[in-house]
Amino acid sequence: MTDAAATAAPIPVYLRDYEPFPFVVRGVELTFRLAPKATRVISRLTLAPDRVVQGGGVDLRLDGEGLRLISLRINGNALALTPDPTGLTIPATLIPPGEFVLETEVEIAPEENLSCEGLYMSGGMYCTQCEAQGFRHITFYPDRPDVMAPFRVRIESDMPVLLSNGNPGAQGLGWAEWNDPWPKPAYLFALVAGDLQAHRSAFTTASGRAVDLAVWVRPGDEGRCAYAMDSLIRSMRWDEEVYGREYDLDVFNIVAVDDFNMGAMENKGLNIFNSKLVLASPETATDDDYGRIEAVIAHEYFHNWTGNRITCRDWFQLCLKEGLTVFRDHQFTGDMRSHAVKRIEDVMALRARQFREDQGPLAHPVRPESFIEINNFYTSTVYEKGAEVIGMLKLLVGDAGYAKALDLYFTRHDGDAATIEDWLQVFQDATGRDLTQFKLWYSQAGTPRVTVAEDWADGVFTLTLSQENPPTPGQPDKAPKVIPVAVGLLNPNGDEVRPTQVLELTTARQSFRFEGLAARPVASVLRGFSAPVVLERAVAAEERAFLLAHDTDAFNRWEAGRMLAREVLEGRAEAGLWVQGMVRLMQGDHDPAFKALALRLPSDDEMAATLAGRGLVPDPDVIRTRRRALHLALAEALRADLPGLAAPLRGQFAPSAAQAGLRALRLAALGLLGRFDLGAVQAAHLSADNMTEEIGTLAILLENGAGAEEVAAFEAKWQGDRLVMDKWFALQAGLAAPDQTAAVVESLTAHPLFDWKNPNRFRAVLGALSGNHAGFHHASGAGYRLLADWLLRLDPMNPQTAARMSTAFETWGRYDTGRRALARAQLERIAATAGLSRDLGEMVGRMMG
Ligand code: TRP
Ligand code: ZN
Repeated sequence: MTDAAATAAPIPVYLRDYEPFPFVVRGVELTFRLAPKATRVISRLTLAPDRVVQGGGVDLRLDGEGLRLISLRINGNALALTPDPTGLTIPATLIPPGEFVLETEVEIAPEENLSCEGLYMSGGMYCTQCEAQGFRHITFYPDRPDVMAPFRVRIESDMPVLLSNGNPGAQGLGWAEWNDPWPKPAYLFALVAGDLQAHRSAFTTASGRAVDLAVWVRPGDEGRCAYAMDSLIRSMRWDEEVYGREYDLDVFNIVAVDDFNMGAMENKGLNIFNSKLVLASPETATDDDYGRIEAVIAHEYFHNWTGNRITCRDWFQLCLKEGLTVFRDHQFTGDMRSHAVKRIEDVMALRARQFREDQGPLAHPVRPESFIEINNFYTSTVYEKGAEVIGMLKLLVGDAGYAKALDLYFTRHDGDAATIEDWLQVFQDATGRDLTQFKLWYSQAGTPRVTVAEDWADGVFTLTLSQENPPTPGQPDKAPKVIPVAVGLLNPNGDEVRPTQVLELTTARQSFRFEGLAARPVASVLRGFSAPVVLERAVAAEERAFLLAHDTDAFNRWEAGRMLAREVLEGRAEAGLWVQGMVRLMQGDHDPAFKALALRLPSDDEMAATLAGRGLVPDPDVIRTRRRALHLALAEALRADLPGLAAPLRGQFAPSAAQAGLRALRLAALGLLGRFDLGAVQAAHLSADNMTEEIGTLAILLENGAGAEEVAAFEAKWQGDRLVMDKWFALQAGLAAPDQTAAVVESLTAHPLFDWKNPNRFRAVLGALSGNHAGFHHASGAGYRLLADWLLRLDPMNPQTAARMSTAFETWGRYDTGRRALARAQLERIAATAGLSRDLGEMVGRMMG
């Protein structure tokens, strides 16, 4: 980047400024002559003025950053133009009328690119990442999602495997051609070249198209691809059966890459994955890893229709593809595993990340209205809240209405770059429902608070619901939203007297009457977490205990226990009721996975958020101490049951949901047993034959201040495995005692295997530091300082990951004045650093308010 670009004040982009591109790209032909230090990219674009927008007579603007321009031609005639730091403008006077061909040749250096964006190298192979704006680091192009074109690609390289999007074309020694017939935006472009091995399979679509499938990995990793392939095949079948969507090319390739900023990327016909979301064997991957692999393989595959065939008009519409695709992958996992367990897990994740975002300085709407760096908006709000919004829509229009709307969406918008307005219009047209008020979910940031009051008189039960939409940055006042509140009524012996009914709260305050009841019922409110809200309900602890024992809605049964545990940890309820409820639950006949989730105490961060939500100042040490104490009280109450619950599984390992549930329950029980018998945990660790138990037991030892020998043995055993060593690093940083956290993390960063330029390794250590609540927020400020040091070090190499990791600071405003001053000083230090990236600069700016 030139000095001018580095020092110019960053300019925000606004949704309201959208203008269509005045040209159409009829075709893209790219030739890559790959070389680590000097790759040549030759581009031949067929362009024409866009008749619809009356293009012609206007300048042609192409994006391009960090490219050395070798030559530029229009219809074969060389032009002498000089690019500026962000692109190239071809004046209208140099553009012939009608269709024309623009040829450019540029040089780039993939080996020197450590940002994991554009064309870069990872483990000796070439790979690309173009979403959101990486293509402009590869060649000059209108790098925006509403410019869609068919691509032909020729790769020249001595690497044995050469891949790009679409169907394979001709190939020879040292070259290969690819042809993608489906018009696509540049962010879906991909290229891979390397010494790779394939794990192959095949799929026949419902209409009979044969598709060759391959998962490409580095030599030695072939044996760890079977689960990813199996997940892909199940995803393809599911999308046909549930959404009627078929695959549309002759091949589908997945490549695993070690250096990757996020989880995975849906490039057309050539998905690229973080290797941790592909490679799995029982010895090296946990049950959670298997679950994530299945979900992310599905997510990227589902993008083929929701993202690729129908893409986004501009980046403000990101939730159009991401919210919908997350919603679809949640449905898929529910169908593959358990809907109840999946819902509980998704809500826990939503509260931990999205509610946290909504309650702090980074709050933004599901569809933001401005940004400085779009990479900073691949957030939990856009993804997870975006999915919740679709879940509410489905609840409001019903399953049949949803199916009808989706069919209309796919037929009406196939091949389009669409908007949220288009999306809502298909629902209006398919169902006749007016969605004007519903649309507020896309434009208003913040988590609504819904308060429930109840009344029982003359055989009538009345629920009064009120909503409050708290202010967020830039949005002081908000109108009431439409909030679907699913409610069931139980009678005092636990039978359901009214099945689940969806109440629609549309005003600030509304009452709903239930008549014809013989006795005062117990209400089960917000079943299945029917809306992403904070529910305020002054319920006696006894009623929560009743719901924990009797609710017929699995989510709310779990929720009753969770709320009771929160109240105990806040010091607002006695521990006994919760502990006794758990003992009864463990003795009951429930899904082991559900039991394991029930035993999990609210995290320290969740407690800090809960307290802050009540206007209190959380003390990280007190939270931690209380949580440990409640865990011990539970262990004592369950003492007699623990050996049974912790019994090892019999039979051969399978990554099934059923076995995963049993292992989760066994580990939860071992965690409780560990409070008075670490020997049992050590023995389980030594006899573990799968990574779930090997790492799970090691975690228990560390939580109890033990495990030094086991940590050393684990390192000796696994030092050659990058993915397993990420777990080893993360565990120690995440579970270090508060007083020692900074020192432990410092020593981990001095370890010879701490390769900080690898995003997974950086996240393993520094991400785990910020996940260690009492350690990161230690009163000395050492955690804050250490993280800031490393963000500043990473930023020049990989601004995307540095910016993402900086969100550890988003909660700084919750804490006491001492901690606030210390955290703020670090944010100010970062902000004052010369040459800070746009990515990290935007984040610290927003966090400082
Ligand atoms: N579109 C990807 C997904 O959600 C995510 C993504 C966006 C991404 N930008 C990225 C992945 C950068 C890797 C790197 O499926
Ligand atoms: Zn996605």
